[in-house]
Amino acid sequence: MSTTHFGFETVDEKDKARHVRGVFDSVAPKYDLMNDLMSAGLHRAWKAYAVMVANLREGDQVLDIAGGTGDLSLAFAKKVGATGQVVHTDINEAMLRVGRDRLINQGVVLPTLVCDAEQLPFPDNHFDLVSVAFGLRNMTHKDAALREMCRVLKPRGRLLVLEFSRVAKPLEKAYDWYSFQVLPRLGKLVAGDDSSYRYLAESIRMHPGQEELKALMQQSGFGHVDYHNMTGGIAALHVGIKC
Ligand SMILES: C[S@@+](CC[C@H](N)C(=O)[O-])C[C@H]1O[C@@H](n2cnc3c(N)ncnc32)[C@H](O)[C@@H]1O
Repeated sequence: MSTTHFGFETVDEKDKARHVRGVFDSVAPKYDLMNDLMSAGLHRAWKAYAVMVANLREGDQVLDIAGGTGDLSLAFAKKVGATGQVVHTDINEAMLRVGRDRLINQGVVLPTLVCDAEQLPFPDNHFDLVSVAFGLRNMTHKDAALREMCRVLKPRGRLLVLEFSRVAKPLEKAYDWYSFQVLPRLGKLVAGDDSSYRYLAESIRMHPGQEELKALMQQSGFGHVDYHNMTGGIAALHVGIKC
């Protein structure tokens, strides 16, 4: 049996996706509210920065992986205009439904697709930009997912990975206290679910740090990789170029 981690737990590799699905089925209805509360709105600034770095042009083809409730898809759609396309995808139908309804309420209709990042149903060399925000951490085979992202990008296309990362040393203690004492309680209070928010804190600790993720992206086919730390490394934006 091959094992992997689900937060701090060791689980059979075959079961991780099911555990992750349970988390996002549970949090989907309160996902956006919890994001704002947990990060005091900071996730909006991190995403706005990712959109700025994406530097999209009218007509660009974009794939939003693990797009969930659609923040990035919506922002990208405004940039690529009517001649471009943003495909909003996620493995979890509940998250995607919340996102699709939200986009429609804002007058934006995008192709929306349930799909696993580890087996993307798109041709080679198709997209100008692929993004994955706060999704890679949850994937069972991050290397396979990154190789798929590289495959579907056009040569010179870019991958943006926005993800929680390693905080700067002076912030560690306060960040650990907040993650393990406050987050699960907030989850219980607002979403009636403490264990999903405990998983969030644990999964962040198990995710590769800035340099490790950079190396993993390079091993997965990205010729050039750089990263930008945000808010003392609480989050990082990795940019990989297929070259
Ligand atoms: C924390 S949410 C992020 C949603 C959105 N991108 C955002 O930034 O708000 C993580 C998302 O990753 C999705 N996910 C997990 N594993 C996945 C996989 N193998 N393929 C595609 N999406 C996946 C989950 O279903 C969930 O919607």
